[in-house]
Amino acid sequence: MEKIVIKNANIVTMAGFSHGPQKGKEFGELGVIEGGTLIMSNGKIDKVGKDGEFEIPEDAKVYDVEGRLVTPGLVDPHTHLAHYGSRENEYTWRIEGMPYIDILKNGGGILETVRQNRLATEEQIFEQSMENLKRMISFGVTTVESKSGYGLDWETELKQLKTNKKLQEETDIDIVSTFLGAHAIPTDFKNNPEEFVEKVIEMLPQAKEYATYCDVFCEEGVFTPEQSERILLEAKKHGFKVKLHADEIVPTGGAQLAAKLGADSADHLLCVDEEGMEMMAKEGVVAVLLPGTSFNLMTDKYAPAQSMIEKEVPIALASDFNPGSCPTENPQLIMTLACLNYKLTPAQTLAAYTINAAHSVGMADKIGSIEEGKQGDVVVFDCPNVDYIPYRFGISHTYSVFKKGKLIWE
Ligand code: NIG
Ligand code: FE
Repeated sequence: MEKIVIKNANIVTMAGFSHGPQKGKEFGELGVIEGGTLIMSNGKIDKVGKDGEFEIPEDAKVYDVEGRLVTPGLVDPHTHLAHYGSRENEYTWRIEGMPYIDILKNGGGILETVRQNRLATEEQIFEQSMENLKRMISFGVTTVESKSGYGLDWETELKQLKTNKKLQEETDIDIVSTFLGAHAIPTDFKNNPEEFVEKVIEMLPQAKEYATYCDVFCEEGVFTPEQSERILLEAKKHGFKVKLHADEIVPTGGAQLAAKLGADSADHLLCVDEEGMEMMAKEGVVAVLLPGTSFNLMTDKYAPAQSMIEKEVPIALASDFNPGSCPTENPQLIMTLACLNYKLTPAQTLAAYTINAAHSVGMADKIGSIEEGKQGDVVVFDCPNVDYIPYRFGISHTYSVFKKGKLIWE
C-alpha cells in the first residue's frame, strides 16, 4: 500500500483522549501542531510531528497542503442514513405550526417513511443511502453511525440493515450499524404497543448479525422508559451495545435509564434534568447533541450543553440526518448551530465531532484523533484555523478526505 505524506499543515491532533472523552475544562483541547507533517502507511498513521522532524520516505506520495487545516476525520455518531424517500410534503405543515409529534400521531412523520421503505426495494434503499453517504464524505465525514427503524417489521428492517452492511463493504467508510426496531409504534399495533415491544424483542437475535448497537426512541407517546428498558436489557443479553433517543420532547428519565444500562450514549436530551446529567457524568455516558434537529423543528429549545460541561458530561455532536426532523448531512453547519445555540466554542465543536463522537460509538481506540497507530482518517479543510469552519457558514470547507490512509475525496 502506498505511503502518504501530508506536510506543511496546521494539524489538529486531538491527541491524548483515547482513554476517555474530553469533558469539563479540557473540552476543546486541540493539540495543534503548526507546520506539521504526518505520514500514513498500511491504512494507519505512522508518524505525526513538526515539518522536518523526520525523514520523508522516498516512495511516499507527498501532499503539500500549504498551511491548510488538517483534522481527524469527522465521526457522525447519530444518523438515520439507511432509508428511502423523503417528506418535503410535511415541511409546509410544520412551518404552518403543526407539531412534529402530532404529525407522527396522525400516521405521518416516521410512519410515512416506514410506508415508503416497506414499498421500496433493497436496491432503492441502498442507492439513495449511497448517494447521501457520498455527500457526507464530501463534508469530511469518515465514520457514520447508521440506524434502521423505518421498517418496524423484520423484512424492512433487514433491508436497512443489509444496506448498512453493503455501504461498509462497498466504501472505505466505517459504518456503525444500529438496530432501531423500536423507532415508532406501527399503525397496526397502535392499540397494543406491548405486543409490538415483544415483536421487537423477537427481532433481536437476527438483527445482531447486522448491528453493533441497539437503540430505542424513548419518548412520551412512543416507547415508555419501562418498555425501552425491557428492549435494551434483552438486547444486551444478545450482545448488543446500547444507546438511547432520550428526553427529546418531554422529560421521561431517558438519561437516567441510559446511565443505568451503561449505554455508550444518550442522544437529543433537550429536556434532560439535573439528575439525568449527573448520572450520565458518573457513568461516562456521552451526550450526543443534535442542534440541527432543534433548529429544523423550530423548537426554541436546545439541549443544556453548558450545564453538561459544568457537570462534566462528555459531549458529542451529530447530524441526526433523516428525512423528517433533520434532512441535512452537513456537519460543518451543525458545528455553526452548536456554537450559536449551545455557546460551544469552535474548538469544542470539533472535539465533539471527532474524539468524543468516536467514544460515543465505542471506537476511540481506532479513530477520532491523529495519533501514531490510529487509522489514517484525516480531513484537509481549506481553512486557516478551526474557528473559520463554523464562522464561515453554509458552505463546505472540505479540501480533501483520507480514509484508512487513502485519498477518497478531493
Ligand atoms: O432522531 N427522534 C426520533 N427519530 C428521528 C426522526 C426521524 C424522522 O423524523 O424520520 C430523530 O430525530
Ligand atoms: Fe435520531
